[in-house]
Amino acid sequence: MIGGDSAHAPIVWMRSATSNRARPGARSVGSVPSMARAYRPRRSCLAVPGSSRRFIDKARGLPCDEVFLDLEDSVAPGAKAAARGTVIDALSSGDWGGKLRAVRVNDARTPWAYRDVIEVVEGAAANLDAIVLPKVIGPADVSWLDLLLTQLESALGQPAGRIGIEAQIEDASGLAAVDAIAAASPRLEALVFGPADFMASLGMRSLEVGAQPAGYQGDAFHYPLLRILIAARSRGLMAIDGPYARIADLAGLERSAVGAAALGYDGKWVVHPGQIDTVNEAFTPAADEYDRAELILEAYEYYTGTEQRGAATLDGEMIDEATRKLALATAAKGRAADLTRTRRFRPG
Ligand code: GLV
Ligand code: MG
Repeated sequence: MIGGDSAHAPIVWMRSATSNRARPGARSVGSVPSMARAYRPRRSCLAVPGSSRRFIDKARGLPCDEVFLDLEDSVAPGAKAAARGTVIDALSSGDWGGKLRAVRVNDARTPWAYRDVIEVVEGAAANLDAIVLPKVIGPADVSWLDLLLTQLESALGQPAGRIGIEAQIEDASGLAAVDAIAAASPRLEALVFGPADFMASLGMRSLEVGAQPAGYQGDAFHYPLLRILIAARSRGLMAIDGPYARIADLAGLERSAVGAAALGYDGKWVVHPGQIDTVNEAFTPAADEYDRAELILEAYEYYTGTEQRGAATLDGEMIDEATRKLALATAAKGRAADLTRTRRFRPG
């Protein structure tokens, strides 16, 4: 895991000294103490209805980086209360193969939200990595969840601040307040774009989630994706793209995932097991790209350390501090995906 490798400097969005968790003067609404988090990949985040034991059991063995058990839109109102018990049982039993385990609760304005959090955390705190909070429209939503989690952790004797938060930005209000949302809690790990609700909120003329609305000449998602990414990175958070609903259209999914990865996103939701490989691949650097990134880091360390030079050339290309930062991001993603190196830096 990258966070444990002290030989390498932290990347910008890792939970580290560069994040709002530890940054002096950073705004922290909740009461949790500083808790550095190791970088965990979230290339593919699988949505699983929390009411379906069959889908949950199937999800255990799938090669996604994160699974989130949903209590929100994929669960009918009449099934929500019972789904909490199913989710608690599922988190607390069986083998999840090292995946990140999250639960999406209902949004803060619904009558279900507080019980979702209380029941799930009381029932499965030790087996839960993060809560996904949907339809976040301002920092108060996140502050509410942060404080409730702090109360629960304290009552349960669990380490304060261990359970993270992923905030979904999925309407006009949320996007307008995204900077304040990103700064709302040291528990935040990721901002997540929610294209379905976002399209509905803006009145986009499309019924296909994640696909471009017909008639628009540009990329309708460029602005929200970039806006969310900037807010996330300004606070050291991950940025995750939302779902692409046309399950059989792997080419469309690939276009969407590759585009988000190129922009800088860390991962994307998947709504079907058949989407996982495409998305994992899109968010994993190519082997030669990863190799080159590690080489740049080694060369840069040599030139700035041993030779005390700020800029140097590597294979005919100039490298400097900015190149190092770019290489850090690629190296982090490659290491998280367990890619192997084939080249080492040799001075001279
Ligand atoms: C996900 O929640 C979405 O609205 O796209
Ligand atoms: Mg949504």
